[in-house]
Amino acid sequence: MSATEVVQIDLDLVEELTKRETEALNAKHARSLSYREEAKVHLPGGVSSSWQMWPPHPIYVSHGKGSKVWDIDGNEYVDYHNGYGVMVMGHAHPKIVEAVQKRVALGTHFAQPTEDGLLVAEELAARYDLPYWRFGNSGTESTLDAVRIMRALTGRNLIMKIEGTYHGHHDSLMVSVFPPKELAGPRDHPVSVPQTLGMPEGIVEQVVCVPFNDAEAAARAFAEHEGKIAGMIIEPIMTNCGVVLPEPGYLARLKEICHANGALFAYDEVKTGFAVAWGGAVEAFDVTPDLVCLAKAMGAGLPCGAIGGTADAMSMVIAGTLEQVGTFNGNPLTMAAAKANLTEVLTKDAYQQIDRVNATFAKCQTVIDDYKLPASMKLLGAKGSIDWHKEPIREYRDLWDIDDRIPQLAWLWQLNRGVFKSPGSKWESWTSSIVHTDEDVQRYVDNFEEMAVAITK
Ligand SMILES: Cc1ncc(COP(=O)(O)O)c(C=O)c1O
Repeated sequence: MSATEVVQIDLDLVEELTKRETEALNAKHARSLSYREEAKVHLPGGVSSSWQMWPPHPIYVSHGKGSKVWDIDGNEYVDYHNGYGVMVMGHAHPKIVEAVQKRVALGTHFAQPTEDGLLVAEELAARYDLPYWRFGNSGTESTLDAVRIMRALTGRNLIMKIEGTYHGHHDSLMVSVFPPKELAGPRDHPVSVPQTLGMPEGIVEQVVCVPFNDAEAAARAFAEHEGKIAGMIIEPIMTNCGVVLPEPGYLARLKEICHANGALFAYDEVKTGFAVAWGGAVEAFDVTPDLVCLAKAMGAGLPCGAIGGTADAMSMVIAGTLEQVGTFNGNPLTMAAAKANLTEVLTKDAYQQIDRVNATFAKCQTVIDDYKLPASMKLLGAKGSIDWHKEPIREYRDLWDIDDRIPQLAWLWQLNRGVFKSPGSKWESWTSSIVHTDEDVQRYVDNFEEMAVAITK
């Protein structure tokens, strides 16, 4: 076998191991399984959000501290799920606990600005080099505001997005998130596919999808819809298909294309913000868009969202002609947590710890090479993924080559050995934190190697 050849994974063996791992998990989850039945009486599926319903059953969490979480059966896990990438500061960080405790005693909601709001906005302006910021309560609200701003400023309806990216659950963008092969159409003209039932007629037609890492496809789509596209929203690093990095020059070229066509260019940094670097993907790739959407790690675990932009992009919000609103926007508790998080916890220095433990994560690449696994690995700041795809994933359609059964086994394997990752059907991705230790990461690497031995026997 040559160095570039890979082993063929025996999928019958994978299924057999999955059955064994599922039984082992069930045996450790007696309380979780009975709680799920109780919860189903009033919570559909026993959960609060449909994606918490991952098979074989939801993981019901009791508490977290630092890099660890515990389920309601008392099992301990090193946490790489980190609340879908939120807890880059670790669970129950003493500085966040202190800030929230102080604020809670002073009143938690007024629907009027508190002084912490400006301090948070100043911190965001420094990290993103964008002067104007408004707050919301989720990533969904941030991208909803971005779409509305782009439409209002240009007087156009169409929005360009990348096929295979998730930008939240509002109708305008819940399109072609995970489109199935049989509905997605040709790569050069992807069909816009609704992700869920209940989307109003005509809404998906407002979305033009293009593949990631292909600026010329975006240029062509602008030409085909001349004068009709308000703007493009993009995750500068795709994070809902593993971790897919932009190729050199791609983001700068997209910005150029958008501006040449009178359209805006917006980053969805809901997942990458505060995770891949102090200044997110803007810092990592040195391209500043017109608008940036943030949420997740900003609020240290409190519901949060923010949209920032240039003076031009935010001009209608500044003038009050476009209404960016919400009862809980700038909520005092969220602002107190975000202020402590950004000024005292996720400081520039803190990111060095993430880079340090990444040296241990990089050992997964040695496992891939040693066992000739059909896999590739990506690592940037607190984000990483192992994709069961020999060549690094470049765009969403590459995922269609992956057999879901292997990543599902990998997820169960880690779970049964004290590592909790976000479930995902085709990829293995993780978020680490500034409090993860080499020992925590070594646990991941050891489990990964043990599975490599088991599936290549
Ligand atoms: C890239 C991206 N944008 C937006 C969202 C939506 O954020 P929220 O779930 O806070 O509404 C998510 C959620 O995972 C996301 O990954």
